Amino acid sequence: MTTTAPAAPLTFDDVRRDPGRFRVLTGDRPTGRLHLGHYFGTVHNRVRLQDVGVELLVLIADYQVLTDRDVAERPAEHAEEIVLDYLAAGVDPSRATIFAHSAVPALNQLLLPFLSLVSVAELGRNPTVKDEIAHSRQSSVSGLMFTYPAHQAADILFCKANLVPVGQDQLPHLELTRTVARRFNSRYAEIFPEPEALLSAAPLLLGVDGAKMSKSRGNAIALAATADETAALIRGAKTDALRHITYDPAGRPEVSNLVLLAALCLDRDPYEVAGEIGGRGAAALKAVVTEAVNERLAPLRERRALHARDRDHVRRVLREGNERASAIADTTLTEVRAAMNMVY
Ligand code: TRP
Repeated sequence: MTTTAPAAPLTFDDVRRDPGRFRVLTGDRPTGRLHLGHYFGTVHNRVRLQDVGVELLVLIADYQVLTDRDVAERPAEHAEEIVLDYLAAGVDPSRATIFAHSAVPALNQLLLPFLSLVSVAELGRNPTVKDEIAHSRQSSVSGLMFTYPAHQAADILFCKANLVPVGQDQLPHLELTRTVARRFNSRYAEIFPEPEALLSAAPLLLGVDGAKMSKSRGNAIALAATADETAALIRGAKTDALRHITYDPAGRPEVSNLVLLAALCLDRDPYEVAGEIGGRGAAALKAVVTEAVNERLAPLRERRALHARDRDHVRRVLREGNERASAIADTTLTEVRAAMNMVY
């Protein structure tokens, strides 16, 4: 079996020139509220794509929650909170489709033919899965953990998405998706596009302790956090012993991460932001970061609070998204059955 080199990543400007050519699919695991890592990693990008006229589908990946734990805790509640986060960030349900894995049967059925297209060895050497297994709280690795990248291929291919805005950690999954598409097309019939990655221009944002930003580590600033909660988290952020503030991600990860956070929120260059704070030290840095984050998030938080008052609307957004996604998945599955000569 052959694998080809990854395609050069597309840029936002490539897409803006011809938005009608693209259908975008991305998603999140509903394990908690979305935080700034999600926002600057992909959510902001999705909204920009939607706003230049690209068709957008957003998946609440509920089955994927089960990769590293026995039971998904309150998935319906988490899904609702995430829909609120999407609406807060500017996803517009009159243009975009928000849906959940478990509500789209035909998407899930694609997993079976797709699993036949990949080898056990390919699944076993996926670096993101290896990393997740290393950090999993489970004592044994479930079959879903091992195979979920093939399911993620179904997430992307059921709607023939050709563009996937992701962080670096998702690239192995996208490569597998391309492999699945290519092999299906050559074994059966040309049905699937080979989707391309749209990497976020933002460098990786860490948590306030300098480790990977994650809800379970308590180091993440949620979109939905209040201004006071945000201030408290940043007050407690790790810095270092040097007074003069600089932007040096390799040498000073914690301080640089705070500088980066301010720079992202202000749409500015992190070196300039660090230079302006300079000798005023960590307290001044934290004040700048707190104000920048709270100002950037204020309109989102306002929109979120507005939508949170109408839970029926939030549930309707998801129900209608599920219906739209199901109609698309049914059409694709019909084509797949025909290509595989399984029409009875
Ligand atoms: N794997 C992604 C994550 O852990 C979530 C996800 C599921 C996804 N299906 C997807 C992302 C399809 C992009 C495209 O965050």
